[in-house]
Amino acid sequence: MHRLYGGFVFFSLCLLFLAPSCSGGNILVYPVDGSHWINMKIILEELHARGHNITVIRASNSWYIKEKSSLYSSINLEMEEAFEDFFDIFIAEQIKVQREGASLMTFLKLNRDFLSMLTQAHVLWCDVTKDVFENKTLAKQITDSKYDLVLTDPAIGGGLVLAKYFNLPVVLNIRWSPLGEGHLVLAPSPLSYIPVPGSGLTDKMDFFQRIKNMFFYGILKFQEIVLVGPIYDDICSKYIEGGCSIASLLQQADIWLFRSDFVFDFPRPTMPNVVYIGGFQCKPAEPLPADLEKFVQSSGEHGVIIMTLGTLVNALPKDVADEIATVFSKMPQKVIWRHKGDRPSTLGNNTLIVDWMPQKDLLGHPQVKVFVAHGGTNGVQEAIYHGVPVLGIPLFFDQYDNLLRLQERGAGKIIQLADLNSHTFEEGLKDLLHDSSYRQNIQRLSRLHKDQPISPMDQAIFWIEYVIQHKGARHLISEAYTMPWYSYHSLDVLLLLLAVLMVLLYFIYAVFRCLCCRRKRKTKTKQN
Ligand SMILES: *[C@@H]1O[C@H](CO)[C@@H](O)[C@H](O)[C@H]1NC(C)=O
Ligand SMILES: *[C@@H]1O[C@H](CO)[C@@H](O)[C@H](O)[C@H]1NC(C)=O
Ligand SMILES: *[C@@H]1O[C@H](CO)[C@@H](O)[C@H](O)[C@H]1NC(C)=O
Repeated sequence: MHRLYGGFVFFSLCLLFLAPSCSGGNILVYPVDGSHWINMKIILEELHARGHNITVIRASNSWYIKEKSSLYSSINLEMEEAFEDFFDIFIAEQIKVQREGASLMTFLKLNRDFLSMLTQAHVLWCDVTKDVFENKTLAKQITDSKYDLVLTDPAIGGGLVLAKYFNLPVVLNIRWSPLGEGHLVLAPSPLSYIPVPGSGLTDKMDFFQRIKNMFFYGILKFQEIVLVGPIYDDICSKYIEGGCSIASLLQQADIWLFRSDFVFDFPRPTMPNVVYIGGFQCKPAEPLPADLEKFVQSSGEHGVIIMTLGTLVNALPKDVADEIATVFSKMPQKVIWRHKGDRPSTLGNNTLIVDWMPQKDLLGHPQVKVFVAHGGTNGVQEAIYHGVPVLGIPLFFDQYDNLLRLQERGAGKIIQLADLNSHTFEEGLKDLLHDSSYRQNIQRLSRLHKDQPISPMDQAIFWIEYVIQHKGARHLISEAYTMPWYSYHSLDVLLLLLAVLMVLLYFIYAVFRCLCCRRKRKTKTKQN
């Protein structure tokens, strides 16, 4: 007993002395602007609270990433172009195509526009990263700062090239890489049961669906070889000794903080340096503002429906908004709807339209029965965390795939924009409200998600500090990536074995033939 206690004191003392040595790291952050920044900032807040020194690389004209912050100091890089406008147009187009139905041509055109927008982003950020290498003062400033690691979101690969150039360990905050879903470049990913993003498939595919999956993989590969790959090959060959590629840079990253987990995603092979932090942004609900609480309580036994289609979509087409408002007005529930644009003419008096709502506090409120959402990762993770069934109206990007993961587990339902009318919407809502299995299923996901030894956020911080303390995590990186493809698949070994087998077979054949001939000759000579 005494020894145990002594051990405990010793252990605590060690912790006390060890703690300061791992706090106070010096972290260089290369984020992706826009909605990705929201995620990154939540991690930075936690790192800041633990006493780490943070420097953020940002474009001088960034909307989201502020230059002055109490969390971090910033390095500002000149960037002329911004592509907010293009983005808005693209989304409007996408919604239009979805509603009117798309021919193969429009589908391809939309894909091409999307790819060219992505390509443009990669080019812009590579140019900006080159400016860092070319600016001797800035490069020296970065070297002298002796950063412990680069924390980057590799949806844009600039941070990876930067880390390689300055020879710094890398921690990724990742779900998407320039080569598609993060795992595809890291871990074995057989297309027979791993759906390629955008394909709208699950991990159970019949023969034709596997053909479709292969087709979508082809698009990804095309993108890698023709569009994205060359941009990084170019900057690599100019600035990195021995060259590099976007795939090799990703594969050499020390730790992958992956914004997903296997409560949300389908099970698949992974690697030892991947840490699943899905739902790290979720927090328990706090009390609602008084007026909102009053509105929610006034719903009585029927409860509340909340609806939001995210921050990117400013207005739904007017006729769609009207149909939705009509359905809401007929429901006995109260409704809180985050909606910008014109007030629908058919709005009922049970529906409250708001500019902004405290989403997590509402989702955590016991009166809230259904969440009508577009299926962005944040919203889906929060719905899982708080256990509220989702009626999904996917609009673009990964949203359909996200919602599909809920629908597959009976925790939500998808209505495609093309099928959205008052009839389908009402049916979907009533289904979610009256069939208790949806709620049971998502509450089960919620329990599974929360039952982890260490919370996702603490995992993220632990592994960042681990990389600071051990100057990287090379020992967790698989040898697989250094091998040529024929060795990886053991084709060279198989080829040798096959050759030996052939020789052996031929030898046996030759021996038998020889024996036969001799016997024949003997019989022949006897006959003679
Ligand atoms: C933290 O960053 C600031 C600004 O870059 C720098 O002046 C300071 O020396 C850093 N502190 C440590 C402990 O690295
Ligand atoms: C180089 O970087 C320094 C420090 O960030 C900055 O003040 C200077 O304007 C940059 N020079 C050029 C040519 O961009
Ligand atoms: C809301 O509208 C319904 C039907 O139009 C009406 O019966 C009800 O009294 C109204 N409720 C309030 C609080 O105004």
